Amino acid sequence: MPDNIISTNSVSEKQSEYMNLTAEIMEIRKRGEKPLAYIRTYGCQQNVADSEKIKGMLAKSGFDFSDTPDDADFILFNTCAVREHAEDRVFGNVGALKNLKRKHPQIVIALCGCMMEQEHIANRIYNSFPFVNLVFGTHSLHHFPELLYNSLVNGKRIVERGNDDKKVYEGFPVKRDGIFKGWLPIMYGCNNFCTYCIVPYVRGRERSREKNIIIGEARQMIKSGYKDITLLGQNVNSYGKNLDNGVNFAQLIKEIDSIDGDYWLRFMTSHPKDCSKELIDTIAESSHISKHLHLPFQSGSDRILKAMNRHYDRKKYLEIINYAKEKIDDVSLTSDIIVGFPGETYEDFKETLSLIREVEFTSLLTFIYSPRVGTPAAEMDDPVSADEKSKWFRELLDVQEEIAAKRCSSMVGRVERVLIEGKKEKTDELNARTSGNIIVELEAPQELIGTFQNVKITKARNWILKGELIR
Ligand code: 5AD
Ligand code: SF4
Repeated sequence: MPDNIISTNSVSEKQSEYMNLTAEIMEIRKRGEKPLAYIRTYGCQQNVADSEKIKGMLAKSGFDFSDTPDDADFILFNTCAVREHAEDRVFGNVGALKNLKRKHPQIVIALCGCMMEQEHIANRIYNSFPFVNLVFGTHSLHHFPELLYNSLVNGKRIVERGNDDKKVYEGFPVKRDGIFKGWLPIMYGCNNFCTYCIVPYVRGRERSREKNIIIGEARQMIKSGYKDITLLGQNVNSYGKNLDNGVNFAQLIKEIDSIDGDYWLRFMTSHPKDCSKELIDTIAESSHISKHLHLPFQSGSDRILKAMNRHYDRKKYLEIINYAKEKIDDVSLTSDIIVGFPGETYEDFKETLSLIREVEFTSLLTFIYSPRVGTPAAEMDDPVSADEKSKWFRELLDVQEEIAAKRCSSMVGRVERVLIEGKKEKTDELNARTSGNIIVELEAPQELIGTFQNVKITKARNWILKGELIR
């Protein structure tokens, strides 16, 4: 078994049995040659982590993996529902598989993830794409081996969604994509119901994983050489609320931080309404937690924050940010922003611009509002035109570029500890990342990929730094 497959517990015996049965069938069908799976993941890190579980289950079912759908025996798209653009890409890319299926009718085509938990989408897929064999939502992940086996043996089309039993399933075999950077989910689902967001409807209510299981998995990752571990959840700050062990997120991360080793610990995503001073103090005092806070504020206007159901205002947000700046040396701040929420005016938007100027974020993830069927915001009046929203969006990008460039230039001349992540495309340079999540490009031998190094920052180009290795 490759090193990057980690079993947290044993999967349910029944599902293990299905993985063995699939391996046997595929062995006969492929006459001893390894079957290939092609997995394409859309959307956020939570989806990437789910795909790593699916890959773990497929590896145990005898599959190897392919970078292209063309030679695959099993094709899976793990989909994202958070914005319309992501959904459109899925529809386009699934449509493109029609010819492949015509040429190789024996391949199994499957779709899973957040889009598939929406009834109208699952129906549309079923009706428009008769060559899709298997459709399952986020709540059916724990019995994927059974779904795959059934789809292989009886040839009937399967759709399974709406299976939320509010449980946390453990014991998935995980095949991580990276060997030194890895995701570690600590909780699933969301209770916040921000009015624009589809996530609570497609991923269910908040469920935290048991502390000891998380710590065991973190220990195992550190032991097997992971250098950059990101704890994942839709709102990590409310970790532990549904457990009776009395541990909150700050305490959890403090315990992980106390594990010996040379590694960085990151986490995402935080919600300003639950981001505590205790957490910021923990980051400031820790040995391994990166000096980076991703704290999405979405809008700088109190009126819009209220309509979004965010449960904080601009003043409260700035209080946390200022506390973080005061306590954490050279903290790197990043955020998510939505432009053009229904009813947002240019005056509201200017509040967002003034907030980003005040905070001076390192980088931003910026989105134009996208109506999601079934969310309250999709029913709100939205008089501003798409063109106008695009204009505001470009203005936001320009302001942020100026801020990021200023922040990055202030780092020239400094020595930074970086993790070297890989080769930059089409050049001999390598890409590295600082603890604050800023990219540094440098010339260095490829053997250093996956190691921490000290680098002198020599240049800044917008939000990217250039550096020289210090040996
Ligand atoms: N439209 C645009 N952006 C959205 N996000 C979530 N829902 C929507 C939507 N309907 C953004 C938020 C969130 C990030 C993951 O995606 O900024 O923090
Ligand atoms: Fe969506 Fe809000 Fe939950 Fe984030 S906190 S997943 S934006 S509902």
